[in-house]
Amino acid sequence: MTAAMRAVERPNYDVEAIRADFPVLHQQVNGHDLVFLDTAASAQKPRQVIQAMVDIMERDYANVHRGVYALSQRSTDIFEAARVKTARFLNAPDENAIVFARGATEGINLVAYSYGQRLGPGDEIVTTELEHHSNIVPWQLLAERQGATVKFIPMTDAGELDMDAARSLIGPRTKIVAAAHVANTMGTVLPIAELAALAHRYGGVMLADGCQAAPHMPVDVQALGVDFYAFSGHKLYGPTGIGALYGRPDILTDMPPFQGGGEMIETVTLTGSTYQAPPHRFEAGTPAIVEAAGLGAAIDYVQSIGLEAISAHEAAVTAHAEAQLRAMPEVVFTGQPGRKTSVLSFNVKGAHAHDVGTILDQMGVAVRAGQHCAQPVMERFGVHATARASFGMYNTQAEADALVAAVAKTIEIFK
Ligand SMILES: Cc1ncc(COP(=O)(O)O)c(C=O)c1O
Repeated sequence: MTAAMRAVERPNYDVEAIRADFPVLHQQVNGHDLVFLDTAASAQKPRQVIQAMVDIMERDYANVHRGVYALSQRSTDIFEAARVKTARFLNAPDENAIVFARGATEGINLVAYSYGQRLGPGDEIVTTELEHHSNIVPWQLLAERQGATVKFIPMTDAGELDMDAARSLIGPRTKIVAAAHVANTMGTVLPIAELAALAHRYGGVMLADGCQAAPHMPVDVQALGVDFYAFSGHKLYGPTGIGALYGRPDILTDMPPFQGGGEMIETVTLTGSTYQAPPHRFEAGTPAIVEAAGLGAAIDYVQSIGLEAISAHEAAVTAHAEAQLRAMPEVVFTGQPGRKTSVLSFNVKGAHAHDVGTILDQMGVAVRAGQHCAQPVMERFGVHATARASFGMYNTQAEADALVAAVAKTIEIFK
């Protein structure tokens, strides 16, 4: 038995108790017990998150920051408590460094539109070949607006970042370095602290896209040395429609508004307006109040189990599936990163990834099939698409076995 497999049996990690908190997991799909392996796309929600959202709507709901009456004050307290929880979750220096956005995509766009205004012709934005489209397209749009250039740090055949190339690409023209903390296709953990140090050496800033990291490992924005860090609530067992952007306080203070409207202003006259300090300057309009309550509950839930324990459990379950799948000659993996999270991207020889996904679904196994919003990664590996199994805190070793058995059946069908 490997160390990873022993970790599954850690007596203090009670996966069945965790599963009991997730109502959606307890159902049959196509006559089989559901095996949900698409947590990287969006995680399922525990009862505690659902209840927190019901509670605020049933007891406390009103618009925030405006009312002098009790309900508005209660809603505001819950909303702002979620900001404090998010700040602690990321080890941000204080809660004003946390801007609520619709998700990581909006957080990254906020930086591109607001911070990006200081870029000009000749300036460079350096990102990587491993990114989700949401950490590529905002930079391409920014480059078009400001006459800047986007450069991409390539990856190795293993699906890791080529750090020699990073060292030669990041230089005096680099104004922004943007990289995933964890890549969504293969789960590669990128050396964010090292990239941040390179960005800072030349006076640039570092943005990390933490969508696939925050649910799987402890994140400390100060230890990483990042200037911006974005994640989405729905991937962290919370609701859709809310995410957070951490911004280094001194940088946020100097950034112009992203969108205009209510909530973000200090004064408005017919000749001009002045704006609130961060984070409210970047939160125009009525925010996602109910969703913030859900995000706060999701953070509480994840922290009550502990990210170290979640990470060890997921690593063990993933390793259990991966060892068996890699032993099948018909299964071709995309990459083999040394440091990774709980994602497996693969193809079955002779079968399209969509067919693999459809056949697995017939056996109750839900995986994602496609390009995973990462077309450059597909191009780099010369594949049109992959099947992607991603494991969360609630997946079991038996479910890893169910995936392996379903892939074995798929291979039989395509023989
Ligand atoms: C690495 C990464 N970045 C960004 C995103 C975009 O997240 P959202 O659609 O929640 O904004 C995703 C979603 O799959 C992702 O995996």
